[in-house]
Amino acid sequence: MNPTKTKAWQALQAHFETVRTVHLRDLFAADPARGERFAVEGGGLFLDFSKNRITDETLGLLTGLADEVGLRARIEAMFGGQRINTTEGRAVLHAALRAPEGSHIHDAGEPGHDVVPDVQAVLQRCEVFAEQVRSGSWRGHLGRSIRNVVNIGIGGSDLGPAMACEALRPDSERRLTVRFVSNIDGTHVVEALRDLDPAETLFIICSKTFTTQETLTNANTARQWLLDGLGGDEAAITRHFVAVSTAADKVAAFGIDAERNMFGFWDWVGGRYSVDSAVGLALMVAIGPQGFRELLAGFHAMDQHFRTAPFEQNLPALLGLLGVWYGNFFGCDSHAVLPYDQNLARFPAYLQQLDMESNGKRVTLDGEVVDWQTGPIVWGEPGTNGQHAFYQLLHQGTRLVPADFLGFCRSRNPRGEHHDLLMANFFAQTEALAFGKTGDEVRAEGVADELVTHKTFPGNRPTNTILADALDPRTLGALIALYEHKVFTQGVVWGINSFDQWGVELGKVLAKRIAPELQADAEPQLAHDSSTNALIRRYRRGRRT
Ligand code: F6P
Repeated sequence: MNPTKTKAWQALQAHFETVRTVHLRDLFAADPARGERFAVEGGGLFLDFSKNRITDETLGLLTGLADEVGLRARIEAMFGGQRINTTEGRAVLHAALRAPEGSHIHDAGEPGHDVVPDVQAVLQRCEVFAEQVRSGSWRGHLGRSIRNVVNIGIGGSDLGPAMACEALRPDSERRLTVRFVSNIDGTHVVEALRDLDPAETLFIICSKTFTTQETLTNANTARQWLLDGLGGDEAAITRHFVAVSTAADKVAAFGIDAERNMFGFWDWVGGRYSVDSAVGLALMVAIGPQGFRELLAGFHAMDQHFRTAPFEQNLPALLGLLGVWYGNFFGCDSHAVLPYDQNLARFPAYLQQLDMESNGKRVTLDGEVVDWQTGPIVWGEPGTNGQHAFYQLLHQGTRLVPADFLGFCRSRNPRGEHHDLLMANFFAQTEALAFGKTGDEVRAEGVADELVTHKTFPGNRPTNTILADALDPRTLGALIALYEHKVFTQGVVWGINSFDQWGVELGKVLAKRIAPELQADAEPQLAHDSSTNALIRRYRRGRRT
């Protein structure tokens, strides 16, 4: 369906013309209860969306759009195991990864096959393994306990567990060092291993396909490092390498015991939706099986909320629809995510893959080229660092950048007044962005005429505020699921497939062609464009000196 041809879209277009210049100052002045009315709680999270450039009518039209594009039916199709990832012929069942034991979910392509027992069986194997590592009973080749866990993976096989390990540092077993290696740049693996003792180091090679160049190159380097450090005995691999993958044959070919040391998942789990599968093994080792179960409970609570709450009270649907409002009507290109918690430093990077790999698409499910904007550029940094860097543009620049502010009532590291000061900044920023400071207010402070415009804040900059009690495993699960379902909502409105990623392929193919041209001893015959040819020749000259 072309969303721009729906009645709701056309009505939104007409409505937009009537509200595009309305100021948040006036919307708040006209309705003293706006702050309470435009706020909802669901799945353990609180969302204040009152500082958006919307009226009740906007909200009604946006939820009407969700109805008209069939969001409710698409949600049921996803949760019901329909093969909605049509270009890959797959179901999209990450919700089954956090479904309670005893529930029943089927991949519609395999009727009669309940996936929940499969999920629980892998989860239990992961739990046994995680406990062995945590307790010290998993011994390395020389009989020593494991003290270092290095996850080697990239994209969805890295960003989720890496982000979550940092987010849940206060819940982690501090005896263990958990590191993540992703980049094919040798610096990453070399620096990550520099101070580790191979006898106490365990590698988790995490790759859905087990063909990813970055991961296999890093895994081979790690393998050599281990063998060099432990006297070259190949038998050491069994005690120091485990795999998370869907490809048992390739895991075995690498030399990992796929029967005992591989933790599987399924093709219906997309890489960027996999942190709550065995891909989260490093995280489970860090926070323990109980913490991981809490995380899954948080995910599930948000799944339930998304599936059952009416759209006007549905956090993921609201975030998704508001994003459509800004992207497709106001013409905003980007969306900022600003966590006021140092441990969420990697959350924007995680969301970049979740959102931009999912909704960075230019054709509909039917392969027609769209003539409406799809996914935004997602970016962000933790507050308050961002305030001293790019907030100037948010407040006074020429671009409108909608932003999500994420904050917590309690710090996991309470120290003096730190947390109240952090949160004072958190509340101050959304207030300043919404209401700004008029020229008259500036003048009334006695500011010289020539500086008045410089010191004026236009305001009317939209934000969502997402608040939770504390950043613990349950909250993090809910937060990730919130954004997963936001992305889904938008994908449904735009009529695109949020679950494939063909756009990453071309660069991979070209890199495979170019690598031998860089490495060849004799000057290679180059058949690229003149720019790429010249760059390769320049690189080869520089490489020799
Ligand atoms: O970047 C493309 C991609 O396929 C992602 O979707 C995926 O998360 C990542 O590569 C890693 O893939 P794999 O887990 O198969 O190594």
